[in-house]
Amino acid sequence: MLLWEETLFKDRDRFELDHLPEHFLHREAQMNSLKFCIRPALQGGRPVNALCLGPPGTGKTTAILKLFEEIEAHSSQIVPVHVNCQMNSTRYAVFYQLYKKIFQHAPPSSGISFKRVFEKVAQHSADENKVLVVALDDINYLFPEKEVDHVLYSLLRAHETCPGARMGVIGVMSELTLNYVFDPRVVSVFQAEDVVFPLYSRSEIRNILGHRVQMGFYPGVMADDILDAVVDYTEKSGDLRVGIDLLKRSGLTAEKRASKSISSEDVASSYDRSRLVHLTYALKSLKADEQKVLQLAVSQESWRAGDLFHRFHEETGAGYTRFHEILNKLDAIRLINADFTGAGERGRSRVITVRYEPEEILSRLGS
Ligand SMILES: Nc1ncnc2c1ncn2[C@@H]1O[C@H](COP(=O)(O)OP(=O)(O)OP(=O)(O)O)[C@@H](O)[C@H]1O
Ligand SMILES: [Mg+2]
Repeated sequence: MLLWEETLFKDRDRFELDHLPEHFLHREAQMNSLKFCIRPALQGGRPVNALCLGPPGTGKTTAILKLFEEIEAHSSQIVPVHVNCQMNSTRYAVFYQLYKKIFQHAPPSSGISFKRVFEKVAQHSADENKVLVVALDDINYLFPEKEVDHVLYSLLRAHETCPGARMGVIGVMSELTLNYVFDPRVVSVFQAEDVVFPLYSRSEIRNILGHRVQMGFYPGVMADDILDAVVDYTEKSGDLRVGIDLLKRSGLTAEKRASKSISSEDVASSYDRSRLVHLTYALKSLKADEQKVLQLAVSQESWRAGDLFHRFHEETGAGYTRFHEILNKLDAIRLINADFTGAGERGRSRVITVRYEPEEILSRLGS
């Protein structure tokens, strides 16, 4: 029995989703690609721009934060700035963040214009011979109104109005492919190197979670076969966040019944809540038409793809190519199953089912 003041957690912070892991496993290739992009900046040149792509929970944000940590420790010539575009979704807001990082205080609040903020930032880069490396995380939030074109244009052509200014961009997206057409004036300056973050394999998930268990729980709290159950659930959802959240919740559940170790029932009962962590993050990456398909899909237990397309087409006028793309994305980020079936008079057709309950989805889409 666990005494009331005892705990299973050696270090509870290890199970928080914003905890930056000290051991970032299985992402050496991606880290090397990113470093390769930055390298020219160390030699007085311009960094190569990059675009990090991959499903939710595959370590994209973590890779940027680890990279920036390393840069800050080793170089004062490069100024890395991580911008969360969900919170900073305009050109002004992005440059406001750059200004804040460079000057270590916010711009004077009395209605300073974009032009002024921009000039200060670019001038600083030129005068101090510093290279700004700007990570635009969840860059898809800049797509509406084509704000992203304004942001990239300002960043990557800064040297035209302010000679000597040097900036590089790392775009980050929960997408499998870029799916956005940049303005031609941006295309000529934003030729990005793709850095792909695939889903973790089962053994990679096990390593990563096993490491968290070692660091976060006291010895003997989680037996190997219980960890395997957590890995199964994580693999099913395709999102490492589910696994990390599940470790924490099952630890708390075991504590609540004053047990010194976590049982498979603790894991099973906690999964009901943890699996929703994936849903929350996955929904945030959806565009309006992708949300529409999902909304239509939950209104029925299962759909033939053709029927769902007709409904979608009726409501939005969009064509089959786009619909097909959307299905593939929703399938890839594991919000739906889109399986081929031999049944049906027209032979092989896809059957669509949603992997979450209608209320779980609709309440998060705000409808
Ligand atoms: N290779 C890894 N080793 C250890 N922890 C990891 C690894 N990859 C991801 N994590 C952990 O998983 C969680 C999700 O990772 P992260 O936020 O980097 O994903 P992401 O790819 O940016 O997802 P999204 O596209 O939804 O923003 C974080 O808590 C992070 O610490
Ligand atoms: Mg992220």
